[in-house]
Amino acid sequence: MATYDLVVIGTGPGGYVCAVRASQLGMKVAVVEKNATLGGTCLNVGCMPSKALLHASEMFEEAGHSFAKMGVSVSAPKLDLPAMMNFKQQGIDGNVKGVEFLMKKNKIDVLKGTGKILGTGKVEVSADGKSQVVETKNIVIATGSDIARLKGIDIDEKRIVSSTGALSLEKVPGRLLVIGAGVIGLELGSVWRRLGSEVMVVEFLDRILPGMDGEIAKQFQRILEKQGFAFKLGSKVTGVEVNSKALLAKIEPASGGAAETIEADVVLVCIGRTPYTDGLGLKEAGVALDSRGRVQIDPHFATSLKGVYAIGDVVAGPMLAHKAEDEGVAVAEIIAGQAGHVNYDVIPGVVYTTPEVSSVGKTEEELKQAGVAYTVGKFPFTANGRSKVNQTTDGFVKILADSKTDRVLGVHIIGREAGEMIHEACVLMEFGGSAEDLARTCHAHPTRSEAVKEAALAVGRRAIHM
Ligand code: FAD
Ligand code: NAI
Repeated sequence: MATYDLVVIGTGPGGYVCAVRASQLGMKVAVVEKNATLGGTCLNVGCMPSKALLHASEMFEEAGHSFAKMGVSVSAPKLDLPAMMNFKQQGIDGNVKGVEFLMKKNKIDVLKGTGKILGTGKVEVSADGKSQVVETKNIVIATGSDIARLKGIDIDEKRIVSSTGALSLEKVPGRLLVIGAGVIGLELGSVWRRLGSEVMVVEFLDRILPGMDGEIAKQFQRILEKQGFAFKLGSKVTGVEVNSKALLAKIEPASGGAAETIEADVVLVCIGRTPYTDGLGLKEAGVALDSRGRVQIDPHFATSLKGVYAIGDVVAGPMLAHKAEDEGVAVAEIIAGQAGHVNYDVIPGVVYTTPEVSSVGKTEEELKQAGVAYTVGKFPFTANGRSKVNQTTDGFVKILADSKTDRVLGVHIIGREAGEMIHEACVLMEFGGSAEDLARTCHAHPTRSEAVKEAALAVGRRAIHM
C-alpha cells in the first residue's frame, strides 16, 4: 500500500497550490522541499520580495518628487536601506508562514529534504546525510527554475549579482549595469534607480521586453528613459573584469564589432531562467527532458514515466507564478479523475514598474504574423478623467479585436495600475467576449478602468472622450 496518493516535489506556487487542491479533492498528500522555507522562488527570492522593494522604493520616489505638487510638504526623504530590507523580509516571512499554515490546514505532510525519483511510486527524500523512501501513487515535479548564467561572468551575489543578490544589496550602487532588458532587469533596475543608482541596461535584441506588444514596449522605453534609465540595445556583454575599485564590462554590438568598456559598481545578470532538475534522478528513473532541458509533458502534464507529472517553471510555457498555480490545480484535478485544464491563450503578464505594463492574448506582431485581420482600439490615459486629476497620465490601453467577429484577441496596457486593470480583459476573453461586450459594460466613474471601456469603444470608432 502506498503511503500517499500524491507526493509533490517543490513548494513554489506550482507545488503548494497543487498540494492544497489535491487535499481538497480527498487525497493524502506530502510535499518535499529542500529549502529551509516553503514557497519557492516566488515567495523567497522572486515575486514577493521584488514587489516589496518596488512598493517601498516607489513610495521613496513619490515622497521626494510628487508630494510637493499636491501640496504635501515634507523634507527630502532619507533612505534607511536596512529598514527597507527589513520591510521586505517581513513580507517574505508573512507569506512563507501563510504557506506553512495552508499545509497544516489541509493536513499535508511537509518532508524537508531533496527529493529524488527512484521510479514509479517511489521518492527518496534526503537531508543532513540521512534519507528515507516514501511510497506514493502519484508524483508531481514542481522544482521550478534557476538563474541563467553568462559564460565567463561569475556571479558572486555581491558585486556581480543575479536577481537574488539584487534583492539584498547592502548599499545603493552608484552605477548599476543590467544585462538583459526583460522583466527582472526593468523591475529591479527601477528599484535601484529610484534609490539613487545610475542604471544602464544592455540588451541583446533591438528592443526591450521581447514578447510584449512592440508599440507598448517602445512607449515604455521612452518613459523609462525619461526616468533616467539608459539603454544599449543590440549589444552584448562579453566579459566583466573585476578590480578593487570597479567592474569593467566589455560591451560589443550583438552582431560583433568594436568593443567598448563601461564601468559599474554592480552588474546584474538577468538574461532569463532555466528549468531546475538537478538531483531529481530523472535520467535514471526514465523521465524524458525536451531539447531545452525542460521536463517533457503531454497535454495532461504526464511525463514519460507512469504516475509522474510536472508543472510550473520546470515545463514549457511562460515562467510565471500564476501559470504554475493554475497548472497545479489542473494536474491535481486530472489525477483525481476530473477534467483539469489551463487556457494558455489567456495568461496575463505584468511588469510591476511605474507605470505598470500588462498584457493578455495576442500582440499586434503575432496577429500580423498569423495573417489574422484585426481592428485596433486605443485610448490614452491623458484623456481619462481620474488619471488627469491624479496627474498620472502616462500610457494607454490597446485592444486588438478580430475584424470580422469583433472577438477580443489581445489587450495591452501601459499605465498606473495596469496590472489590476488587465483582469476584466482576461474574464472577457475566457468567455470569448467581443469589444462590443466590453464597451457596453458599465464601468464605475471615475476609474482608470474607464480607459479600458473607451479603448473597446475605440475598436468601433466611437470612443466618447477622445
Ligand atoms: P519555484 O517557485 O521555483 O519553486 C520550486 C521549489 O522546488 C523551490 O522551493 C525549490 O527549492 C524546490 N526544489 C527544487 N528541486 C527540489 C528537489 N529535488 N527536492 C525538493 N525541493 C526541490 N512571476 C510572476 O508571475 N510574477 C512576478 O511578479 C514574478 N516576479 C519574479 C521576480 C523574480 C526576481 C524572479 C526570479 C521570478 C519572478 N517570477 C514572477 C517568476 C516566478 O517566481 C516563477 O514563475 C514561479 O516561482 C514558478 O513556480 P514553481 O512552483 O514552478 O517553482
Ligand atoms: P526575460 O526572459 O524576461 O528577459 C531576459 C532578457 O535578456 C531578454 O530581453 C533577452 O533578449 C536578454 N538577453 C538574453 N541574453 C542576453 C545577453 N547575452 N546579453 C544581453 N541581453 C540578453 O528574463 P528575466 O528578466 O531574467 O526573467 C526571468 C523570468 O522570470 C522571466 O521568464 C519572467 O517571466 C519571470 N519574471 C516575471 C516577473 C513578472 O511577472 N513581473 C518579474 C520577474 C521575473
